[in-house]
Amino acid sequence: MKYNFDKKVCRESTHCTKWHVLHNDLDNKHAIPMWIADMDFPIANSIQKALTDRMKCPIYGYTVENINCKINLQSWNKKRYNYEFNTDDVTLISGVLPGLSAAIRIFSNENDKVMILLPSYQPFVKKTLANNREPIFSDMKIVDGTYLIDFDDLENKVSAQCKIFILCNPHNPTGRAFTIEELTQLALFCEKHQLKIISDEIHSDFIMDNNNYNNFININEYTKNNTISLVSTSKSFNLAGLKIAAAIIKNKQIQSKFIDESDKVGSTNVNLFAQCAFESAYGDEDSEDWFNQLLSYVNENQNYCYEFIKNNLPNITHHKAEATYLLWLDFEKYSDKFVDLQEFILNEANVYVTPGISFGDQYKNFIRLNLGCPKTTVIEVLNNIKDALDKL
Ligand SMILES: Cc1ncc(COP(=O)(O)O)c(C=O)c1O
Repeated sequence: MKYNFDKKVCRESTHCTKWHVLHNDLDNKHAIPMWIADMDFPIANSIQKALTDRMKCPIYGYTVENINCKINLQSWNKKRYNYEFNTDDVTLISGVLPGLSAAIRIFSNENDKVMILLPSYQPFVKKTLANNREPIFSDMKIVDGTYLIDFDDLENKVSAQCKIFILCNPHNPTGRAFTIEELTQLALFCEKHQLKIISDEIHSDFIMDNNNYNNFININEYTKNNTISLVSTSKSFNLAGLKIAAAIIKNKQIQSKFIDESDKVGSTNVNLFAQCAFESAYGDEDSEDWFNQLLSYVNENQNYCYEFIKNNLPNITHHKAEATYLLWLDFEKYSDKFVDLQEFILNEANVYVTPGISFGDQYKNFIRLNLGCPKTTVIEVLNNIKDALDKL
C-alpha cells in the first residue's frame, strides 16, 4: 500500500518527549520541535496490527523471549545488507543505551579510558562518565566537506589505559556512512591498541543515495571477536517508546558477560508489546514496504534541504547526509551575531532544535534538525530560519 507521510498527526497528550519538553518544560506552545530523533510519522499498519492483535487477548503477563524477533532481524540484515550473523549471536535488550552501559562495564574498569569521536551523540559521553570511565575525545576532521576519522589524532591520544572505542555507524549527527576502507583502518587501529569496540548501529537503515551500510562486526577477525554491535527498531520504525534493541555479539565469552551484566539491571527482560512490534517490523512485508517508502521520503527531505540551503542560505555550511534523517548545519559565518544559537532559532525562527554544543563544546555554532517529519514542516522551518537570518 502507499503510505502518506505528508499527513500531520497530532501527538498532543501522548506524553511524547518531543512536544512535552516544549509545551511543559519550556512553556512554549507554538514552536516547531525539530530536535530529538524520533519521527512524526504513524507506524506501519502491520506493526500496529501486530500490537492490537496481541492486545485483544487481555492478559499481559510474564512473557518468554520471542525467537521470531531474532530470526526476522537476521533475515532483514541478510536480505538488505548481506550482513550475516546467527540468531544465537543476538541478545534482546530494552534499549541501545542500556546495552551501551553494560558494554562499557564489561569491557573496562573504573577510571579506564574510552575513545569517542567528536561531534558525539551526548549519551556516549554521559554513559562513560556515569560508569566512572574517562572519555578521550578525537575531533573528526573535515576534508572537502566530509567528516573523516582523524587517525593521526587517535594515535596521539590513545594510551594503555584506553580500553574501548565507541563508534556511531552511521554517524549521528554528521550523517556519515563510513566506508569499508575507513572501517578497516579503524579496525586495524583498534587491534593495534587492543581496544574493544561498541558499535552503535541504530541509524543503519537510513542510508541515502549510493552509500552503503557496512556493519563493523564483520570487517575482520578482530572486529568479529571484539565488537558489541547495537541495533534497534527505534529509529527505522519509529518505535522508540517501546524500548527494545538488540546486541549482536559473535564472541560467546563476551556475549555471556554482556548478558550477565545486563541481567543485573533486568535489561534483558524485554517488554511483550515491544517484541510484537519488533517481530513485525523486521518480518512483515508491509513493514518493509513502509520503511522503503519512508526512506525515499526522508531522502527527499534531505535533498530539499540541500537545495534550499545552497540557493537561499549560502552562509550556512551544509553537506548532504549520507545516512540518517538528521541535518547537521554549521552557522559559523554568523557566529558574531548571537550568543546562543539554539535560543536565537527558537526566539526568532520559532523552531526548537538540538544545539550543536550538546555534541561537543566546539560545535556551539551548529544545530541538528530532525527531518523525520512532513515535508511541509521542513519547508516552513527552513523559511523561518531564512527570515530570521535575513533580519540580522
Ligand atoms: C546514536 C544513537 N544511539 C542510541 C540512541 C537511543 O537508543 P535507545 O532509545 O534504544 O536507547 C539514539 C537516539 O537518538 C541515537 O541517535
